[in-house]
Amino acid sequence: MAVDELESLGISAQEDPAGALFAVAPDRLAGLLRVLRVPSRLLLRVAQGRADQLSDVQNLLQRVPWFALPQPLPPLQVRLSSEQARPAKAKWILEELLRQLRASGRTLVQDAPEEGDAGGLQIVARYVKDTLQLSIDVAGRPMHHRGWRLQAGPAPMRETLAQAILRLAQYNPLEPLWDPMTGSGTLAIEAATWLRPLPMELQTFSVDSWNIAHKAWPTAPGLAHAAIVAGDQDAVVLAMAVANAGRAGVAEEIDFQAREILQQIPTIANTGLVVANPPWGQRLGGRNAARRLYERLGAVLARRVPGWRAAILVPERNLAQELPIINCTWDRLQAGGLAVWLVRGTIAAQAKGGHR
Ligand SMILES: C[S@@+](CC[C@H](N)C(=O)[O-])C[C@H]1O[C@@H](n2cnc3c(N)ncnc32)[C@H](O)[C@@H]1O
Repeated sequence: MAVDELESLGISAQEDPAGALFAVAPDRLAGLLRVLRVPSRLLLRVAQGRADQLSDVQNLLQRVPWFALPQPLPPLQVRLSSEQARPAKAKWILEELLRQLRASGRTLVQDAPEEGDAGGLQIVARYVKDTLQLSIDVAGRPMHHRGWRLQAGPAPMRETLAQAILRLAQYNPLEPLWDPMTGSGTLAIEAATWLRPLPMELQTFSVDSWNIAHKAWPTAPGLAHAAIVAGDQDAVVLAMAVANAGRAGVAEEIDFQAREILQQIPTIANTGLVVANPPWGQRLGGRNAARRLYERLGAVLARRVPGWRAAILVPERNLAQELPIINCTWDRLQAGGLAVWLVRGTIAAQAKGGHR
């Protein structure tokens, strides 16, 4: 999916076990970070080569463009990993890397939390098949933290998961979108900010402070989108969604409705996309309550938006039997550490009919 997004931005990329690999001029990195939505990290590979002996590590460290990094150099948060047949060798090389960094006067912060905000400069060292790869985290923090979601109701989804759902559902900004259980507004806001840079003041990245004359990433100005309706029965949570959309600069572009699904008014159109992340688990109060909610959602969809496409995140496939979705496609996704299903298809005009 990251490869598709990069290609849609005119960057040729290839799949790699570690993610998508691509080349871009360093002065474009800051601009690119502001439009990329799928990846959760952007690493700049600064040195790579065989490391069989300790002197190889020193040679590789000399290739790092220290001159382009902020001065004075912030503490380095070093994350080490290896996929090496001989773990003892990997340990030897990676320990030498840390020793040489310390010997050259760098301050190291080890065991940096995977999720934490850097505050320093994050170096990622991977030892793979006798090759040492040194990269720097260009964002300096996980990229799903967009900066606008300061408030959230229960079980908000990651912004990068919302992107994955919109992309799997082939969201077309020129078609109306309806999220009837929007919670903190993640899916609706990700759709409204599709292909647009977020407000500058929201996002500061590690690369902003590097010694590089940054160039903006060219984007289509004022890209229009069709109506986006986002509803939730919980007025307090919906107010959070409105505030989040305000920070993302799209509050005026989303029709927020603080109503139960039955009372929400989607856009009148023959085609469109419904996305939903209904509550699950204990929040639903048991299987019968869950089934009733899905039946209700199904009846509303069949009555209001037959012919639209749907992409609904469900904790188990059985629950989706209550939804009037035909020509179903299933994708396994991770949400909050759980494996869940995204069911996609076309909404039938008839409520409830089991799997098709
Ligand atoms: C799992 S949360 C959605 C989280 C959202 N994707 C986010 O990122 O914040 C489910 C939401 O569905 C709403 N909800 C549950 N039943 C509803 C109903 N019958 N009508 C409208 N909203 C409902 C809840 O208030 C809750 O905010």
